Amino acid sequence: MENLHGGELIWYVHKKYKIPIENIVSFANIVSPIHPELPEPPEFILKSYCDRECTKIREVISQRYNVDEKNLILTNGSTELIYLVSKIFGKKTQIKIPTYSEYECAVENYGGESSFYNDYSPKNATLSFICNPNNPTGKLIRKEELIDILRRYPSNTKIFLDEAYMDFVSQKKSYSMAQEIKNYKNLIVSQTLSKLYGLPSLRFSWGFASKGIINSLIKHKFPMTICNITMYYAEQFLQDKFYEKRVMHLIEKEKKHLFRELNEISWLEVEDTDVNYFLVKILNEFTASDLFKILAKRGIIIRDCSNIKGLDKKHIRIAVKTKEENDLLIEELIKIRGL
Ligand SMILES: Cc1ncc(COP(=O)(O)O)c(C=O)c1O
Repeated sequence: MENLHGGELIWYVHKKYKIPIENIVSFANIVSPIHPELPEPPEFILKSYCDRECTKIREVISQRYNVDEKNLILTNGSTELIYLVSKIFGKKTQIKIPTYSEYECAVENYGGESSFYNDYSPKNATLSFICNPNNPTGKLIRKEELIDILRRYPSNTKIFLDEAYMDFVSQKKSYSMAQEIKNYKNLIVSQTLSKLYGLPSLRFSWGFASKGIINSLIKHKFPMTICNITMYYAEQFLQDKFYEKRVMHLIEKEKKHLFRELNEISWLEVEDTDVNYFLVKILNEFTASDLFKILAKRGIIIRDCSNIKGLDKKHIRIAVKTKEENDLLIEELIKIRGL
């Protein structure tokens, strides 16, 4: 369980507590609680090998984000991109904590060295990870501040800017740094289909960077890691403006509701957020691990954040889900220790 990230905990709870997957509600999986319709793919999609060049979906992404195709790499989830970048540039890596633990795992996997800091000032590293909005704090760094941070880095430090949760920020266009790859040749901006579209199993993401960085990444990338079915859906989803509005409406509404309800519970302290999850501190005698276990036995999963560097055994992370699911969590929390 140590190395599992939030989204994977469902498999752990399913096996450990013998609860059918479909009866588990995971507040640790910070993806949208709804997803777009899934029309059955035409048979030829299933019967053929994928287009190795990913022609159509590259066009869709390039147009949607107004970024040249030469500055684009497609990967099997941003996890693949995190590992690729760590392999090529991660010899000496700086990581501002608390943040997503997979960065450290990827760097370690390729024999790189990670150092952890409480700020973003440059530390003579080959690679720096910046998660914006940050997981698990839910905090967004505003564009002006981020540009100020980027300016301080020497050009030989690659900066991996993970925008996995940017889709949940209202006015995201004014915060995303996708356009800034023109100005910062050491910048890699990573985005994913997993979160807003609520379908992480499709494994699809993309990165924007200078031509030089993209070419280095492509040299090390395995071919055909993105399957035909994924491309078929991604092409449709990324052109569907209506769906985005629907999710954002739901998240905004439920976020307010869940924040209010969690705040009513006197033994929890909820941090404000810019996205679709909350970092919460437990104020009574329970540890995050205690609460995780009690809820998991009831088929509810929260993220115990005690293994995240920079946090402690009192921190949990809770995603915003549907009204019914959020109400269920609140009901169970009140049953455990009252208001
Ligand atoms: C900050 C962050 N980046 C990247 C990922 C990986 O996302 P995916 O590989 O599904 O694109 C996650 C997943 O939880 C995440 O929290």
